[in-house]
Amino acid sequence: MSKPTKLTLALPKGRVMHHSLTLLRAAGLDLSAPPGGRALQYDAGGARIIEMRNTDVPTYVDLGVADAGVVGKDVLLESGRSVYEPVDLGFARCRLSLIRPLGATGPVRRVASKYPRTTRAYLQRRGLSAEVIKLAGNVELACLAGLADAVVDIVETGGTLRANDLEEVEVIVISSARFVVNRAALKLKTDALRPLIDALRALNPVKMA
Ligand code: PRP
Repeated sequence: MSKPTKLTLALPKGRVMHHSLTLLRAAGLDLSAPPGGRALQYDAGGARIIEMRNTDVPTYVDLGVADAGVVGKDVLLESGRSVYEPVDLGFARCRLSLIRPLGATGPVRRVASKYPRTTRAYLQRRGLSAEVIKLAGNVELACLAGLADAVVDIVETGGTLRANDLEEVEVIVISSARFVVNRAALKLKTDALRPLIDALRALNPVKMA
């Protein structure tokens, strides 16, 4: 029997990389630890790993440079990329929510976010014609400093909201890490991808998280 095809996997650096490697190993891939230092890609034995910003994972997978990867549902939706999303890995759980200063009741005219596409889609669903401003980080500050009447941002523990007298007005997306696959690779490298998808599903990661 021939050896299964070696996959190229796109993983975001940091905590998600660590959790992803643990789950991929539990699913049967023999993966060595990252070599450390500043290497951006490495041969991990059972797969080739390429490491990047989480927002770039959908691009690498959709364009077929990576066969598969791990990325948050929030980032995936914002990317607008068309990848196959077969497994909810259950970790990195958070909400993408509309946030306003506590007790704010005035109209929402301007919304700041790192997620402009998702924000525009949400406002359209709600029939609101607010202006959307893209920011790079510390998004809640836009509300506090008067740049925007509301923000759309991640809520994980709620600690940032409590510390800044902000409230979560509406949950827009419930997010968690997803295993995503390039659609062509699913057919061309099915010998490696199908068993991996089945094994990840069998781990029942959503219940484990
Ligand atoms: C994220 C997010 C919120 C915060 C929410 O920020 O944008 O600010 O975490 O987490 P909490 O509910 O547990 O307080 P992050 O620190 O990732 O960086 P950013 O502000 O630069 O986006």
